[in-house]
Amino acid sequence: ATYDLIILNGVVVTDTEISEADIAIRGEKIVKVASRGRLQDAKAEKTIDAMGGYVMPGGVDAHVHLQEPPLFGKGSTADNYETGSRSAVCGGTTTMVTFAPQKKSEDTLLDTLQATHEKAKDNCYIDYSFHLLVGNPSERALSEFKTLREEGISSLKIYMTYAALKLHDGQILDVLLEARKQKITTMIHAENGEVIDWMTEQLEKRKLFAPKYHASSHPPMAETEATYRAISLSEFMDTPILIVHVSTPAAATHIKQAQDRGLPIYAETCPQYLFLTKKDLDQPGFEGAKCVCSPPPRESESDCDHIWEGLANGTFTILSSDHCPFRFDDSDMGKKSSINDEFPLGHFKYIPNGCPGIETRLALTLGEDRLELKKFVEVTSANPAKLYGLWPRKGALVEGESDADINIWYPPGKMQPYELTNEMLHHDVDYSPFEGRKMKQWPRYTLLRGQVVWDKENGGLLGKKGNGQFIKRGASELAKPRMDGEWELPL
Ligand code: URP
Ligand code: ZN
Ligand code: ZN
Ligand code: ZN
Repeated sequence: ATYDLIILNGVVVTDTEISEADIAIRGEKIVKVASRGRLQDAKAEKTIDAMGGYVMPGGVDAHVHLQEPPLFGKGSTADNYETGSRSAVCGGTTTMVTFAPQKKSEDTLLDTLQATHEKAKDNCYIDYSFHLLVGNPSERALSEFKTLREEGISSLKIYMTYAALKLHDGQILDVLLEARKQKITTMIHAENGEVIDWMTEQLEKRKLFAPKYHASSHPPMAETEATYRAISLSEFMDTPILIVHVSTPAAATHIKQAQDRGLPIYAETCPQYLFLTKKDLDQPGFEGAKCVCSPPPRESESDCDHIWEGLANGTFTILSSDHCPFRFDDSDMGKKSSINDEFPLGHFKYIPNGCPGIETRLALTLGEDRLELKKFVEVTSANPAKLYGLWPRKGALVEGESDADINIWYPPGKMQPYELTNEMLHHDVDYSPFEGRKMKQWPRYTLLRGQVVWDKENGGLLGKKGNGQFIKRGASELAKPRMDGEWELPL
């Protein structure tokens, strides 16, 4: 046969085009995207009839926490590389970029990278890479950025909060300077850690410990201030940054204004900030702990509306899951680890921060019918690939260049609307913050480098652990300094 697989009768959607087209695959690559009918008589080992459903590049999730030690509260993350990537592929995500976390007590990054490779190797259902999480930008760590690039790592994350990770402004400048030299993209968690600590003490003095006070302890102002500070440091250093998990309209406004001034400021948001509000934290008993993440779900639906708007108008470059899974019913490591004799309803400051969501990101967002289709592909697949040096191998359907990582969705209106349950999901977590939501979509088929790894109606998960490969990444297609050459101290 001429081809290994052809996909007929789909509506092919990329970040730039929607067309009635057929796709031919040979080996691991897309070799032809042809207008409807041109591949009708082509010879192929196997044919899939998309029946008018959308055919899109596989999802790229660039914000995933797996197998991390306690950093964000008491527990370690529940999913390991096997269960996290299994959950990803069952929801149509074919590439993930997870964190390789360097502890404050370590001064090298290369050991961290090695240790993370060992966790992932032979365990992944999907392709993967790592962002280095820099907890200690020691001279040695900074001198290793060059080697990181040679090892295919072109991005890192730093924090302005959390005792275990927080960097001071001077340390942030150190990181940005070296990142600029090595063409590394810096992701910044922008919340003011001192404001959070001060608010936490105020709440404790008043004996307010319930999960909902997590939101009070992380006020929007702490995010807005830190976002503006991060933008200012980036502008000073002329170094591109990406602000992760933006939740607050006021922070989004600072980002938009910086972008309008031509600064290389990029931003991410997550389904939590599109679908959840403070109400989800204010539940009877300890239930609200399920939605404890940082930044927290915000005040009202109008905040969510603004975040949706920011996706539509380009303020947000990418939509990631921030999958940071902790079990609810686990008194050693999970959300309930904050419950004890002293705090029978738990204490918000000990609840590990983070929500699972790697499997639900695509279907939840697409099913909402609130983003244009091309925009959906842009923020969930094409842009994360461009931003983090994976494009056009990932996030695209380019003949001869793109891996055959593909989602085939149900034709619009074909799926009976249903309620999301945790039993449907494949993570190692005992809840989803999105349980009970009305869903209208799910991937019908998912392909990873030409292989059908998910077939919803015939066997579900068909992929195997170990199918996923480490992908070496190059420099960002998007995030570049405005000025060429070395940064000069402005005197
Ligand atoms: O609550 C969250 N997002 N936990 C994960 C850690 C982080 O800052 O991304
Ligand atoms: Zn973060
Ligand atoms: Zn608005
Ligand atoms: Zn995160």
